[in-house]
Amino acid sequence: MTSSQSDRLDRTPAWQALTEHRTEIDTQHMRDWFAATGAADRVERFSLSAAGLTLDYSKNRINDKTLTLLTQLARDCNVAGKRDAMWRGEHVNVTEDRAALHVALRAPAGVTFRDMQGDVSGMVRASLARMRTFADAVRDGKWRGATGKRITKIVNIGIGGSDLGPRMVCDALAPFGAPHLSMHFIANIDPTELARALPTLDAETTLVVVCSKTFTTLETMTNARTLRTWFLANGIPEAALGQHFVAVSNDADAAAAFGIDRDHVFEFGEWVGGRYSLWSPVGLTIMLYLGPKHFDALLAGAHAMDTHFRDAPLHANMPVLLALIGIWYRNFFDAQTLSIAPYTDALLRLPPYLQQLDMESNGKSVQTDGEPVAWQTAPVIWGQPGTNGQHAYFQMLHQGTSLVPVDFIAVLEPQYPFPEHHRKLLANCFAQSEALLQGGSMATSAQAGGPLAAQRCFEGNRPSNTLLIDALTPERLGALIALYEHKVFVQAAVWNINPFDQWGVELGKTLCRAIEPELASPDALTPGAHDASTESLIRRANAVIHKRR
Ligand code: F6P
Repeated sequence: MTSSQSDRLDRTPAWQALTEHRTEIDTQHMRDWFAATGAADRVERFSLSAAGLTLDYSKNRINDKTLTLLTQLARDCNVAGKRDAMWRGEHVNVTEDRAALHVALRAPAGVTFRDMQGDVSGMVRASLARMRTFADAVRDGKWRGATGKRITKIVNIGIGGSDLGPRMVCDALAPFGAPHLSMHFIANIDPTELARALPTLDAETTLVVVCSKTFTTLETMTNARTLRTWFLANGIPEAALGQHFVAVSNDADAAAAFGIDRDHVFEFGEWVGGRYSLWSPVGLTIMLYLGPKHFDALLAGAHAMDTHFRDAPLHANMPVLLALIGIWYRNFFDAQTLSIAPYTDALLRLPPYLQQLDMESNGKSVQTDGEPVAWQTAPVIWGQPGTNGQHAYFQMLHQGTSLVPVDFIAVLEPQYPFPEHHRKLLANCFAQSEALLQGGSMATSAQAGGPLAAQRCFEGNRPSNTLLIDALTPERLGALIALYEHKVFVQAAVWNINPFDQWGVELGKTLCRAIEPELASPDALTPGAHDASTESLIRRANAVIHKRR
């Protein structure tokens, strides 16, 4: 779809046909599709493996016609053309006039990428080489703290894309991490994480990675300065702070102005978006913990998914299918949310990671040409690991009034050898998607009878995907993350929005800069500078803050 046609998405033949098709299948139950002759064939047809991941999408309210229409929609919206433009390094981030070349970050040696200025692969390889040398030095004890002691604690200071990815990957792959390193992440301006971390740190053996693409982010810079003061207060002389601080940023001047030696700044290109950056030097903390070999495996897994996304036809393309199924529910069933249910605590941090990836990318109401969208865009992403979620909100998924599609993620080989636990975990995962599909029409409700029957007998026909991962290795995690990155891209391509900017986040940052000084003293508030509610909140806060001091 060209931008001049961009306001016509909901009037394309495929969109119109999908609207009619939605009505057509409205009264049909997935149960019947599964009971029909050749139902096993449905699973066969609606499953797909790529880059070591298997997606079973058969428990969705889709049939062959749905998929034909959805892939037609993808064709009408030029999804493949937009993907190829991203691959070619064109400035697909139109509002910031930048490429979005995160795929270049995980390309193996010999596979080259260019942006409009020229080759970027050389820079990627050089920066990976620097990261490897540094990570090895820290891990092997060649890089030491100011007093000659080995580094045993790594603190990543960053927020958003400079925190969520590294934190999630380090947590998910802890069994692959260096046992002698303890990892700490400080993101929020709220000092809770900082205050809890400090007593567990030892200035002589702590290395801080200040991670900020812009090196201006309020939270990160404030936390970094506080850590700096803490080192000085704990006996590390200013001249030796360089042994305890490195920076990851694409603004080496700003990092140098903070006092970090330019030789210890790991830079990356403008064409790496924050939420797509864990593959870049933003992943330095990951490499420090897992080591270069496992970091390479993470990249290799992502590259395998990239290759699949680039080469597979639309109808057999995992990110494309996941995206189109999401569009089916978001735009034709008015599903407001998508629940992510990883069945392993190792992926506890995947839902928050995907919140930023999906909602900061596609939470847009303006098309790439500035025209307003006339269709829904990003769903609310939420969730937590199973089985915990089952004992919290799954009731609503089964019997609530809203349709909530679920992505179940199951890991077949456990990270820890407790076979009974693992068997029960997987049984729960599979039982939940079965229950969502079948509803209370099985034996349970038939036995209930009486007035309780209506409570116990529920409809089912609630959709889910199940992603199977053989084992949670660096390679598979890389593929999983890349799968969701590309899914988000495909949805943006259909919705004709730019997934690579985040203008909405900026306004709050600007207003915060005006409010902060007004909280510094009770008299600093300019009457009438804010709406009455905000002014009253500032006054109430000041009354407490300044009374206590
Ligand atoms: O939350 C807004 C945001 O700009 C994110 O897009 C980004 O990941 C985060 O802040 C951190 O930015 P930086 O890496 O520049 O500190």
